[in-house]
Amino acid sequence: MSDRIVDPDKKNFDNSVEKNLRPKYLDEFIGQKDLRKKLKIYIEAAKKRNEPIDHILFHGPPGLGKTTLAHIIAHEMGVNIKITSGPILTKPGDVAAILTNLEHNDVLFIDEVHRLNRSVEEMLYSAMEDFELDIIIGEGPSAKNIRIPLESFTLIGATTRAGLLTSPLRDRFGVLERLEFYNIRELKKIIRRSAKILNVKIDDKSANEIAKRSRYTPRVANRLLKRVRDFADVKNNGVIDENIIMQSFELLKIDEKGLDKMDKKILKALINRFEGGPAGLDSLSVVLGEEKDTIEDVYEPFLVRAGFIERTSRGRIASKKTYRYFDINKTENQENSSFNFDNEG
Ligand SMILES: Nc1ncnc2c1ncn2[C@@H]1O[C@H](COP(=O)(O)OP(=O)(O)OP(=O)(O)O)[C@@H](O)[C@H]1O
Ligand SMILES: [Mg+2]
Repeated sequence: MSDRIVDPDKKNFDNSVEKNLRPKYLDEFIGQKDLRKKLKIYIEAAKKRNEPIDHILFHGPPGLGKTTLAHIIAHEMGVNIKITSGPILTKPGDVAAILTNLEHNDVLFIDEVHRLNRSVEEMLYSAMEDFELDIIIGEGPSAKNIRIPLESFTLIGATTRAGLLTSPLRDRFGVLERLEFYNIRELKKIIRRSAKILNVKIDDKSANEIAKRSRYTPRVANRLLKRVRDFADVKNNGVIDENIIMQSFELLKIDEKGLDKMDKKILKALINRFEGGPAGLDSLSVVLGEEKDTIEDVYEPFLVRAGFIERTSRGRIASKKTYRYFDINKTENQENSSFNFDNEG
C-alpha cells in the first residue's frame, strides 16, 4: 500500500509517537461517549466481583481507537495485557503457551481477529467459554484428549471486518462494539491534547483546519499534526498558525475536505468510467488497479461517511456532492463525458 499521509491504516512512522499520544485512562479517551459509559460500568462491575470483563470485540475502520481501548481496559483493570494478532498466531502450540501464561483476569488482545486460522480459532472456543484448554496429544487410535485449566481472562478482539468472523467465534464475545467516526469537535480536542504532549503551540482555528482534514479519524489527525509541526518548527519557531497550516497542506496536497489524490481518482473513476455509478466493487477494483479489500476497508468508509459515495445494493454511486465538488454538471457529463479522467486536479 502507499505511503499516503491521510491513510487511516497504521504506518511504521506512526509507531513511536502513537505510544506517547495514546490515552491511558478512559477519562482521557475523547469521543465514543456511549461506548465509554458502558465500558466504565463493565470495568467497575468486573472489579467489584473480582472477575474478568466479558470477552469484547471491537470493530470499525482503522485508526479509531480499538487498540487504544484494549490498553485502557487492561490499565483500568490493573491487569497485564498480552498483545498478538490473527496472522501471527499460526501454531496451536504458540496459542497454548500464551494462554497458559496468562495471569488472573489478564487481557489477551488479538488484533485482526478475523484472520485466525481454523485450528487456532477452535482452540480459543473452550478457552473463551470455560477457561480450559482442550488439546489432543498423539495421533490415530492412541490420541488422547487432555484438558488444561486456565486462569480466567478477557479476550479483546479487534477487526476492521466483523463480517468475516465465523459465527462460533463471534458468539463467544459477550460485548460487540462498533467504533464510530469522530466529529470535528472531538478531533479538535484530540489535536489540542496531542499538541500539548508534543509541546507545540496551536490556536483554535488551526486545530479546526487540521480536524477538517482528518477524515474523522484520530490517527490521521495526529499524523497531520506532526507534519504541520515540522513546518512550524522549521519556518515559524514551533508555532502553528493559519499561515503555516495553509502552506503545509498546499505542499502535502490535501484539500480542505481531507481528500487526496487517491480519493479523487476513485471519485473521478465513478463519474467518468461508470457515468456516476452504480459500479460494483469488482469493476472499480479493475479500473483503479487497487485491491477490493483496500477499497472497501480503507478508502470507502470515509468517502461514504463524508457523503461522496452512496452504497446501494446495485453498487457504488457518486453523490451530488461529488459532482459539485468537481464542479461538473451531472446530466451534461453523462451525455458527453468531456471531463478529463487523467487530470489529477
Ligand atoms: N478517542 C481517542 N482519543 C485520543 N486519541 C485517540 C483516540 N482514539 C484513537 N486515538 C489515537 O489514534 C491513534 C490510533 O488509534 P488505535 O491504534 O487505537 O486505532 P485502531 O482502531 O486500533 O486502528 P487499527 O484498526 O489500524 O489497528 C492512537 O495513537 C491514539 O493515540
Ligand atoms: Mg489497532
